[in-house]
Amino acid sequence: MNKIVIMGAGRVGETTALILAKQEICREIMLIDVREDAPQGVALDIIQTSPFFNFDTRVGGSNDAADLADADLVVITAGIPRKPGMSRSDVLETNVAIIDGIVDDILQYAPNAMILVVSNPVDVLTWRVWKRTGWPRERVFGQAGVLDASRMATFIAMETGFSSRDITTLVLGGHGDSMVPVPRFCTINGIPISHFISAERIQDIIQRTREGGAEILALRKNSSAYDAPGASVAAMVDAISHNRKRLLPCVAILQGEYGQADIAMGVPCVLDERGLSEVLELDLNAEESAAFQRSAAAVGQDIGKLIDPLG
Ligand code: LAC
Repeated sequence: MNKIVIMGAGRVGETTALILAKQEICREIMLIDVREDAPQGVALDIIQTSPFFNFDTRVGGSNDAADLADADLVVITAGIPRKPGMSRSDVLETNVAIIDGIVDDILQYAPNAMILVVSNPVDVLTWRVWKRTGWPRERVFGQAGVLDASRMATFIAMETGFSSRDITTLVLGGHGDSMVPVPRFCTINGIPISHFISAERIQDIIQRTREGGAEILALRKNSSAYDAPGASVAAMVDAISHNRKRLLPCVAILQGEYGQADIAMGVPCVLDERGLSEVLELDLNAEESAAFQRSAAAVGQDIGKLIDPLG
């Protein structure tokens, strides 16, 4: 990739930019934010790490949407974060207005880009961006499952003492209270986690995963998580830019899979140079399927709250 634009130079945008710059995933990273001088300051700070991390990635900051031009990929992190006690849905109205404006800028300046949505509520906003652009789902998708799965893997590592690099987890559904961690597909180097962890403790891990974002928000108090979210976005960008064909849980537009259509939520997807090139439909058991459908209903309810679905 030549150019990646990150819309929103807040903490998630900044962390993502630093990781991508260090990895030299593209030639140029542009941070765009409406706050005067802020993205320029963030970009300068990041680029001054280049002597330590030995990268030549160009990093710039701008307040001008015209700097979206020639973007291969746009990562949307802009929006207000939730405060302790708020759900991701509570910031829906404000963030929809912000995202609509960004989509219009992308349509004008970067009509051939892919869009990776990170802002919350991510399922609803991914759906909104897809609807408003009218683009194929291959080019419009969101980040949630990679983060939720990394949280679950971390909790399993903490429980068992095993290295997190040997742990594979799967989290489906909406990125909210209804998210669906699927322990049946969680293993430690191929061995089901039920071999190591009691059913009761697995339930605790599932609940802690569901509340993973809120736990950090409650501890940090004035900020949501941003390190693991930034790393999660970078993992998705890496899969696309290197055409790795990785199988990762992403927020995807469903077109009949899992009995759902015209909705965005977390499902296993293939990421390669085309973007989100495939949605994988798993054989869920009755309990998993019921949890997935409950989650779909919750996301659908939030989508229904958008008075004018096309803005
Ligand atoms: C979280 C927020 C960023 O899960 O959605 O930490």
